[in-house]
Amino acid sequence: MTDNSNLILGIESSCDDTSAAVIKDEYLLSSVIASQKVHEKYGGVIPELASRAHQTNIVPVVSQALKEANVTIDDIDAIAYTRGPGLLGSLLVGTSFAKGLSISLDKPLVEVNHLQGHILSCFIKEEGKENKSPHFPYLTLLVSGGHTQIVKINDFYNFEILGQTIDDAVGEAFDKCSKMLGLGYPGGPIIDKLAKEGDSNKFKFNLPNIKDLDYSFSGIKTSLLYFLRDRLAENENFIEENKNDICASFQKALIDILMKKLILATKLTGINQIAVGGGVSANSALRERIEEEGRKRRWITFLPEFKFTTDNAAMIAISGLYKFRRGEYSTLDKSPITRMSR
Ligand code: KG4
Ligand code: ZN
Repeated sequence: MTDNSNLILGIESSCDDTSAAVIKDEYLLSSVIASQKVHEKYGGVIPELASRAHQTNIVPVVSQALKEANVTIDDIDAIAYTRGPGLLGSLLVGTSFAKGLSISLDKPLVEVNHLQGHILSCFIKEEGKENKSPHFPYLTLLVSGGHTQIVKINDFYNFEILGQTIDDAVGEAFDKCSKMLGLGYPGGPIIDKLAKEGDSNKFKFNLPNIKDLDYSFSGIKTSLLYFLRDRLAENENFIEENKNDICASFQKALIDILMKKLILATKLTGINQIAVGGGVSANSALRERIEEEGRKRRWITFLPEFKFTTDNAAMIAISGLYKFRRGEYSTLDKSPITRMSR
């Protein structure tokens, strides 16, 4: 590249999606995601199978991302990769690949926290799009398969967790509900779809009473379990006959829980710019609800495009870009981190 722009290759392999993306400054040039279908029949991600699939996918996915971006590997200024949190075997594939590229090309390596990636996905710009992004400070509702947090974003490098789940993540609650209903994995998109044809006021679930801005989703999961057990005892076809209404009602309960604390957070901080990130931010009812509350409460809302909600490398590339600009490079002795606080 002859101009002063920064070209970053992002690599994401923390769970069951192998992804690579190229950005030129904040602008997305390409994003390739190979989702692993192998887990569907098991009703959840099998770590051993995930790492094997990453191993198979990583080279073609990275090659495709470079090709679609119309650049060569030599044009890249830095390689950004997900160091964690995630599954060890999965993270090892992306980490090792990124290190290999860094050594062979003699290019800087930048490690990215996966959650930071989800949060900063609202800064990805695309040619020809509106590209609206928040001003600091703003709040992010981070909702994924592993995390549920309300985070205050002070700047690209300074985040404050204001509240988080004390047990299950909301994505897990979607996935477990789907499992209890005998539906597939991942549960979120299936429930989202079935709920569209259902009555969300048909069944009521007790909402948790947790202090401050923290969340809990294990109680509501148990209440669904007992609800289904009792109704099935009366009518063995209960699930089949009420599938849409169960999905709509349970989904509404999860969204009510999320929104209650989000509204409280805006009141406590006085911040009215609200972004959302993570796989569950693909949920159509949650998105509608955030827009609706936003109109009512004069929030400025930032909903990511669907392709940036679930795991993707574009969010890793953009987070890497900001670190690269500050010269925050990683070293080759860093191993993956499976869990971290943010
Ligand atoms: O961010 P993500 O792809 O991976 C993690 O970092 O965990 O999130 C995956 C989670 C899964 O629990 C999945 O069921 C949920 O996001 N999800 C959804 C939807 N699409 C994905 N949940 C609700 N509605 C959706 N449309
Ligand atoms: Zn994720």
